[in-house]
Amino acid sequence: MELEAYVRGLPKAELHLHIEGTLEPELMFTLAERNGVDLPYRSADELRTAYEFTDLQSFLDIYYQGAGVLITEDDFADLMGAYLERAHADGVRHAEIFFDPQTHTERSIGFETFMAGFARAQQSAAERLGITSALIMCFLRHLPATEAAATLDAAGPYLDRIEAVGLDSSEAGFPPGLFAGVYAAARDRGLRAVAHAGEEGPPEYIRSALDDLGAERIDHGVRIVDDPDLLARVVRDQVPLTVCPLSNIKLRVFDTMADHNLTALLDAGAAVTINSDDPAYFGGYIGDNYLAAARDLELSRADLAQVARNSIVATFLPDDRKAALLTELDAFAR
Ligand code: ADE
Ligand code: ZN
Repeated sequence: MELEAYVRGLPKAELHLHIEGTLEPELMFTLAERNGVDLPYRSADELRTAYEFTDLQSFLDIYYQGAGVLITEDDFADLMGAYLERAHADGVRHAEIFFDPQTHTERSIGFETFMAGFARAQQSAAERLGITSALIMCFLRHLPATEAAATLDAAGPYLDRIEAVGLDSSEAGFPPGLFAGVYAAARDRGLRAVAHAGEEGPPEYIRSALDDLGAERIDHGVRIVDDPDLLARVVRDQVPLTVCPLSNIKLRVFDTMADHNLTALLDAGAAVTINSDDPAYFGGYIGDNYLAAARDLELSRADLAQVARNSIVATFLPDDRKAALLTELDAFAR
């Protein structure tokens, strides 16, 4: 079997995907027109040429601007539906999907609007394609923790449709400890916890995400190699790392894919997973991320199957569903 068919055929889970980061330029223009929103670009192609990032913040500025076209329940349903179709085509059986409520509530678009749109597309994809999904509500760390707490309150009526909380946006200067209180409140309400840490920030932020937030997975986490003791702990406890190779190159966390430390993390025994982060901005969905890592880091098929296995084990799915997916993976990768 060709490498590409193998990669896309591997049964897998996606665990690091911002739904707002799946907004393709074409859909952005369609929604802008539908909603009467002016975009400072003349075409989808011109917009694409603006996607030259120097770091995380240079990306986030464009990403938040793009999300401004998302207004109605249908917009959120169209966005989610398009992502789930693509994920299904890449062999994703289950996705745990980030959304940024504050990006929408600050524009007076409420939970009732985006949660209804997401739910409609999630149900439809589950019925038509068999792909299941869960939602992870992220707090924007560049905003005060009091606003994160207000967001958790606003989510109250929807908590049965939210699996976990996460922490994203500008990392440097916004340590996880600032959000210890709101994470404790979220965990008290039965939510699971993950957090972005160690993308641009230091290993100390990873330690704080584990110790102060109770994070069960670390999103990115690649800078952990700067702290061998912490790496040893994450390997021992098999804390999953949701690594996003194409994102890391686009945002200059590593100069080239050949410089990426994914292989070192895998070789150390870390529970590495491969994910797409913001695929509409970074040049590829999860299958493209697996492929880029396979080609440029010379991952073997056994390595790729191990990454897919890690992704299934790292989900928040019940044990019986995990076992069924692992059986499916073993049958494919044998
Ligand atoms: N929001 C969307 N993508 C992100 C990333 N890679 N890091 C932090 N916040 C984000
Ligand atoms: Zn991310």
